Amino acid sequence: MSDIQIQPKDTPTLCIGLFGFGVVGEGLYKVLQQTPSLNATIKKVCIRNAWKKRNAPAELFTDNPDDLLEDGEINVIVELIDDATAAFGIVSQALSNHKAVVSANKKMIAEHFPTLLSLQQQYEAPFLYEAACCASIPVIRNLEEYYDNDLLQSISGIVNGSTNFILTRMQEGQPDFTAALLLAQQLGFAESNPLLDIGGFDATNKLSILLAHAYGITVSPADLLFAGIQQLQPGDIAYAHEKHCRIKLVATATRLRNGQVAAFVLPQLVAAESQLFHVQDEYNGVLIESSFADRQFFYGKGAGSLPTASAVLSDISALRYAYRYAYRKKYQQVPPMLSHDFYLQVYVSAPNATAIPTDRFTRIEERFTGKGRNYITGVIAASALQQNDWWKQEGISLIVGAAGIMEDVELRSIQHQSLTLAGVKAEN
Ligand SMILES: NC(=O)c1ccc[n+]([C@@H]2O[C@H](COP(=O)([O-])OP(=O)(O)OC[C@H]3O[C@@H](n4cnc5c(N)ncnc54)[C@H](OP(=O)(O)O)[C@@H]3O)[C@@H](O)[C@H]2O)c1
Repeated sequence: MSDIQIQPKDTPTLCIGLFGFGVVGEGLYKVLQQTPSLNATIKKVCIRNAWKKRNAPAELFTDNPDDLLEDGEINVIVELIDDATAAFGIVSQALSNHKAVVSANKKMIAEHFPTLLSLQQQYEAPFLYEAACCASIPVIRNLEEYYDNDLLQSISGIVNGSTNFILTRMQEGQPDFTAALLLAQQLGFAESNPLLDIGGFDATNKLSILLAHAYGITVSPADLLFAGIQQLQPGDIAYAHEKHCRIKLVATATRLRNGQVAAFVLPQLVAAESQLFHVQDEYNGVLIESSFADRQFFYGKGAGSLPTASAVLSDISALRYAYRYAYRKKYQQVPPMLSHDFYLQVYVSAPNATAIPTDRFTRIEERFTGKGRNYITGVIAASALQQNDWWKQEGISLIVGAAGIMEDVELRSIQHQSLTLAGVKAEN
């Protein structure tokens, strides 16, 4: 078992054991060849299928994980495989063997976050995963180092490149969902299991990781309110177009007035004034609002071989100066609570009007009944969506309106104004 000490002053040679030689793994192999100054070499690559032909010398490859995990000379394990269960085994064993680990596997990280925190503490081994959220955009390290918990108001963004690519195609006159998904897969943006992308699971895994670094909140992705884009219909796209908006799958975490945090991943109508409106194709964009710096916008490629490999490379480089996440917002501050006590302004559509349960709405603003498509806009409590999944049934689409989150006080004020206008209540 090797007990590596990575000191800033001696800038050690990083001897890498790489798991996976797919879109990202091969991309990393290529970018490392172009950055000799990093002083990092790949000693061995572990893959699943030993018979596959690779664009690298055959002697580099093995299908035995222990050739990497039990090699005392290898001091960094880079895990880039598409199997979250196997990845967790690899990362756990690597950390237990005191090896530094870099990963891009958001599903594995989000689902095993508490255990991975404990392993890092127990074995004092660094574990970095910048590529797991928004690929080439350095959002985790920024949240970790730059934004103090008290100052961070909200983080919202397009964090899944494939769904954004599909939505872009669909909103630019190519309404065939399956064809757009196939193209995303061919271009290397999509997960091996496309349901992870289109079902919103990937974006939710990323949101759960972002919550840990933004606010110190540890939450299982399954406990977050989320949906993907597979329910969206051409009529929804037409509605967005009429309103001069674009539909985007947006991950949101925002502080409520009581200091708690609301978080969800849902399709959202985004108006042209928002920077997110202009994030197209496989690009990702993240808006961060803080008390004093106001609003900042990060934009970059959220998927693909070299952009993702560049974030992995940045983590490998950070290991040379002994960088590790301190998780200060979790360990040195009291993290805020996650809350479902808020409302969402929504558009809900269905093939027939009776499929939309109007009694679930706290407030109804607009109803449309037409041939083949019916919709209602209004306000729904997030807790009601969390508790019941009628809105995830076949044929129903729910899209957050441009107004987004509402709190109790705002809702009461709108209701009061409506009643006043209707002459039911006197103005005060
Ligand atoms: N693609 C992107 O744009 C992107 C962006 C951000 C993050 N990521 C993440 O990066 C990781 C890799 O994605 P990818 O797109 O590169 O996947 P990929 O192209 O499907 O490649 C997966 C690689 O993992 C290998 N593999 C699978 N199970 C293995 C196991 N048990 N042991 C050893 N090797 C195994 C495969 O081996 P064979 O070659 O033998 O099949 C293949 O080389 C995933 O966690 C993904 O979520 C990807």
